[in-house]
Amino acid sequence: MSLIKEIDFGTPIRVAETTVTLTIDGESVTVPAGTSVMAAAMSLGTKIPKLCATDSLEPFGSCRLCLVEIEGRRGTPASCTTPAENGMVVRTQSENLASLRKGVMELYISDHPLDCLTCSANGDCELQDMAGAVGLREVRYGYEGENHVKPVTMEGYANESWLPKDSSNPYFTYDPSKCIVCNRCVRACAEVQGTFALTITGRGFDSRVAAGPTDFLGSECVSCGACVQACPTATLIENKVIELGQPEHSKVTTCAYCGVGCSFKAEMQGDRVVRMVPYKDGKANEGHSCVKGRFAWGYATHKDRMTKPMIREAITDPWREVSWDEAIAYAASEFKRIQAKYGRESVGAITSSRCTNEEVYLVQKLVRAGFRNNNVDTCARVCHSPTGYGLKTTLGTSAGTQDFKSVEKADVILVIGANPTDGHPVFASRMKKRIRQGAKLIVADPRRIDMVKSPHIEAQYHLQLRPGTNVALVNALAHVVVTEGLIDETYVRERCDLADFEVWARFVAEERNSPEASEQYTGVPAADLRAAARLYATGGNGAIFYGLGVTEHSQGSTTVMAMANLAMATGNIGREGVGINPLRGQNNVQGSCDMGSFPHEFTGYRHVSDDATRDIFEKLWGVQLDSEQGLRIPNMLDDAVGGSFKGLYVQGEDIAQSDPNTQHVTAGLAAMECVIIQDLFLNETAKYAHVFLPGSSFLEKDGTFTNAERRINRVRQVMTPLSGKAEFQVTIDLARALGLEMNYAHPSEIMDEIALVTPTFAGVSYAKLEEFGSVQWPCNDKAPLGTPLMHVDRFVRGKGKFMITEYVPTQERTGPRFPLILTTGRILSQYNVGAQTRRTENQAWHDEDVLEIHPFDAESRGIKDGDLVALASRSGDISLRAEISERMQPGVVYTTFHHASTGANVITTDYSDWATNCPEYKVTAVEVRRTNYYSEWQERNREQDVSLRLIAGRLPDAAE
Ligand code: SF4
Ligand code: SF4
Ligand code: SF4
Ligand code: FES
Repeated sequence: MSLIKEIDFGTPIRVAETTVTLTIDGESVTVPAGTSVMAAAMSLGTKIPKLCATDSLEPFGSCRLCLVEIEGRRGTPASCTTPAENGMVVRTQSENLASLRKGVMELYISDHPLDCLTCSANGDCELQDMAGAVGLREVRYGYEGENHVKPVTMEGYANESWLPKDSSNPYFTYDPSKCIVCNRCVRACAEVQGTFALTITGRGFDSRVAAGPTDFLGSECVSCGACVQACPTATLIENKVIELGQPEHSKVTTCAYCGVGCSFKAEMQGDRVVRMVPYKDGKANEGHSCVKGRFAWGYATHKDRMTKPMIREAITDPWREVSWDEAIAYAASEFKRIQAKYGRESVGAITSSRCTNEEVYLVQKLVRAGFRNNNVDTCARVCHSPTGYGLKTTLGTSAGTQDFKSVEKADVILVIGANPTDGHPVFASRMKKRIRQGAKLIVADPRRIDMVKSPHIEAQYHLQLRPGTNVALVNALAHVVVTEGLIDETYVRERCDLADFEVWARFVAEERNSPEASEQYTGVPAADLRAAARLYATGGNGAIFYGLGVTEHSQGSTTVMAMANLAMATGNIGREGVGINPLRGQNNVQGSCDMGSFPHEFTGYRHVSDDATRDIFEKLWGVQLDSEQGLRIPNMLDDAVGGSFKGLYVQGEDIAQSDPNTQHVTAGLAAMECVIIQDLFLNETAKYAHVFLPGSSFLEKDGTFTNAERRINRVRQVMTPLSGKAEFQVTIDLARALGLEMNYAHPSEIMDEIALVTPTFAGVSYAKLEEFGSVQWPCNDKAPLGTPLMHVDRFVRGKGKFMITEYVPTQERTGPRFPLILTTGRILSQYNVGAQTRRTENQAWHDEDVLEIHPFDAESRGIKDGDLVALASRSGDISLRAEISERMQPGVVYTTFHHASTGANVITTDYSDWATNCPEYKVTAVEVRRTNYYSEWQERNREQDVSLRLIAGRLPDAAE
């Protein structure tokens, strides 16, 4: 194994309909029009020396190292900024060029510390490489003149040009003395990341890179690392490389955080990760990443990792470390005992969207064929289950319609209930790039998220609706489309069910659905809403992106269908640049749904009551399967409280923290006789567990994740599982102990079975993924290389189905006792319940959940920034710090749920989506007041935390 090094063409790869042919060093080459001479040369394998150019950035032309000679042209143009032309004859090497390049390098080196042997970039430094490439042997200017190099005299730092290092960022260091002012970092931050945190201050000799007035940590920098990756020297470099040295081999794998599914090269020394470098060939991220994927992987080896199986008879007993065999035997005997005593339906399992497709598939198989019921559900229940229902009903497939690349063709982008810069940062960068190129943006969100206004981005319309009124808002958009004649009639006639359309058109045209009538619910000025509707319907390709702000409502499924109606009515499905796209929260939400982990569906979204489908599985698995749908998570908990549900296997989930109405969840867990937790850490749910089976992080496993664009990406094992057992093997062992034979030597064999039983996966195999990197399902005989765009000529269900989407206000009402609405979300640096990110340096950005409150609401309650406030709802109360913020609208407060100690779900309610039971996290009536105390629940929880750690033989951190 060696380090994977992608080719750097120096300037971006161009795509064009026409080509040009030129001659470089006597060889003819044909390239797309717009390609630079530098990239054309590289396509012949000719590396022209360069420093300021790299192919993720537009050419800049500042270093003057890439000079070439072109017949018929005067001088020596820079090859990075010179486009290739038909008939051009280029020379990349001559005595003159060699002398010019040497001269350039001499100047650079005369102002550079000559500490190559001890430099942390040694072995991976383009400056060093270029000195070698141009044959630099001496520096005629000497090193004595004015320079930026740290003086070696004992007088201290007398050299005024020398600047100290900036080590404020926990993951990388900026050493200005090594900077060659090539501008790559500044351009990466602007062009790739779109944050514009860096500038070059000063001129000439005084030029230097600056991140805001203080330091990196105090600046607008979001720590994506694009500048570090772009830097050709050791100026911006990962702290891990400084600490450990250069990696020596790498493997491509997939990020285990959000649904973007970025590909990374895990660069290693032995089985120790040195750094994660975004992979240029990764189709979801094209070489970019966010702070989580690139830097926040240290949790994998955190001291809190539980690596030994444990059991206990009662949740009040101390844990006992046991062998794998004993833990599996105990778990199986308990489940057998429970089923014998309480019946077949008394046990079930919850799969995780953090686990691989293969792991999820095995758990649902264990339930259906081993437990012999359909009591399997997934954490997608509490996030995107309405997506599955809504898109399947209207379009025929429970998935987004586009690939991410499609956004490059969008003219109008409608973001509803999503916060891409925090939740899906790499896709947000792509989206922002398109907006900077001229696409228009409409944001519908109760909160003024960063997409509304950030450097070089401004939404044309921010529809700042009240939480819980999405359906009224989307119906009103559709009302404008229908009543103002903005329907794409040809599209609707050819592609959709006309009878349904006509009923729907009459419905949305009713006055009660007009922007003016809806304003009373949504709070969105009718004029803005009308203008936004016109823009979406007439502005060219209209693309909808949405998130949990759509789905986590009592009408989540209705909003998904309303958006599908709107997109169909305007002809915005079935080609590049359009579509309806759920931004999936966790890495494998799409996959966990695809893998049949809902209680009513087998893989590929086929109902358990369908005889033909059941027949496929029965023949393969050799058991008779239940045709009745099983219990959803909330039903399992209800039945546990009711006394009929007694055993639960939870793989990689923490329902005691993530699910709504914590008191009800914990009451359900406490009522069970055997709870098996398989996880990396002793999480909140483990407080109610009887068996703990150590899980493995994404670095320790082989498998696949499916991202939000239906892309199946490989996850490759780079470290041996710390527990000594791969997670899929644990499920196999449990199945065998329960009497269900499973035989898979490697996850690839599980994928082969998935392909065998799932028509949309029929063409998927590890061999194909090795060959093509990734594929998007459906991938089968009809689409052997997968399907980037869905519903191109016809909808999967045949005719697109318009659905009536009546707005029904949530039952959760504000009133004198609870006058404010609480809505919840995420922050960039943390991830979901924080189990992973809280165990990384990402804590530097967000070490507690805070309550964002509008100045008006704060003032009327005497609340100041930083005050401890009590947040109370009908379900419970917690305390947290207030952050006064004009992002909020009056009457609405906001918090995140990343910290178990906050217990944000203590106050959320039991209301849920009518179709799927997805909880209504986004609307809770609350009151806020100043306090001096943490709530009773929080104090009790903290005590439990301490005792849990003590039981596990670990003392709590002083910091915790
Ligand atoms: S880490 Fe990212 S956001 Fe921060 S300065 Fe570098 S490119 Fe910009
Ligand atoms: S910090 Fe690195 S990328 Fe930025 S200007 Fe200096 S040398 Fe170039
Ligand atoms: S968290 Fe999401 S955006 Fe960030 S690197 Fe991972 S997959 Fe990419
Ligand atoms: S690489 Fe062309 S001018 Fe720097």
